[in-house]
Amino acid sequence: MLILGIDTSCDDTAAAIVENGHRIISSAVSSQNEIHEKYGGIVPELASRRHIEMIWPVVDDVLSNASLKISDLSAIAVTYAPGLIGSLLVGVCFAKSISFVNNIPLVAVNHLEGHIFSIFLEYTPQFPFIVLIASGGHTCIYIVSDFGNYTEMGRTRDDAAGEAYDKVAKLLGFGYPGGPIIDNLARKGDPSAIAFPRARLRNSFDFSFSGLKTSVLYHIKKNPDTRKEDIAASFQAAVTDVLLARVREISEKENIMNVALSGGVSANSGLRNSFRNAAAEKRWELYLPSRSLCTDNAAMIASSGFYRFKRGETADMSLNPKAYLPLA
Ligand code: KG4
Ligand code: ZN
Repeated sequence: MLILGIDTSCDDTAAAIVENGHRIISSAVSSQNEIHEKYGGIVPELASRRHIEMIWPVVDDVLSNASLKISDLSAIAVTYAPGLIGSLLVGVCFAKSISFVNNIPLVAVNHLEGHIFSIFLEYTPQFPFIVLIASGGHTCIYIVSDFGNYTEMGRTRDDAAGEAYDKVAKLLGFGYPGGPIIDNLARKGDPSAIAFPRARLRNSFDFSFSGLKTSVLYHIKKNPDTRKEDIAASFQAAVTDVLLARVREISEKENIMNVALSGGVSANSGLRNSFRNAAAEKRWELYLPSRSLCTDNAAMIASSGFYRFKRGETADMSLNPKAYLPLA
């Protein structure tokens, strides 16, 4: 079965063709970084306009790279929630149109479920597994008991981890997205140079990153001469410690040894190393997707769409995007 996945939930226009839920035939992501860079974050209206320009070329690209025609597709899977509503609208309207005109089934995919399915593109994970999704819009931990069976264990109460990375990069005078910039700087810095706070919410596996961000702001104001590399490394260590600590606690409480990471922040080298070390120490089975599958892509949407399509879960022309939609 060949599924075309489409994702326009945020600032990347992505399309991919995936065979039987796990083999990527072709995948393309058109990044908008150069548009949003000077603003230090995503400007939603500019994102939607760019999606309109790019959606056809990106879909054309994945079809021609795979030497396929639209009529060869078994289904079209599109992200319909959650995300920026104007951006989602472009992908959903496009997918509905080509589905209707070509009489190909349409499948609606939750972007967060897509991130979970990025793991299935490279691994055959054993259920149940714990998944940490840390991206620019979301930071949450789920237990995945089966396909489509998710229990939310914790979530951020304020900023997402990626959002914190982007804001700290902006404070340090860098552009968007800040995550990869901080990641590179941190390699040359001392993670113990500054003791940034590690928020711990009582009786909960939830996160809070806004205090950490404010703490970085005050540190820069009071100590303008601190090396940016040390700020980056110390900030990264604080984020990583908090994310790893919650996953460890959930693993111990639930006695689950299968752990997966997803979302843009999972591309972070410090986070990946810390999770690899914890996996070796705790004897976890760690499912760590390649960096290009951590950040937004459409192969993960096609993979999730495949499993939904197999269960007969198709959408019709009444499908509308939703800015907010919890997974569990
Ligand atoms: O998953 P994603 O591509 O889009 C969302 O669904 O949000 O995640 C984007 C986020 C951005 O905040 C970006 O700064 C962050 O992931 N990111 C990173 C790294 N690469 C991307 N954060 C830390 N280290 C990285 N290497
Ligand atoms: Zn995402």
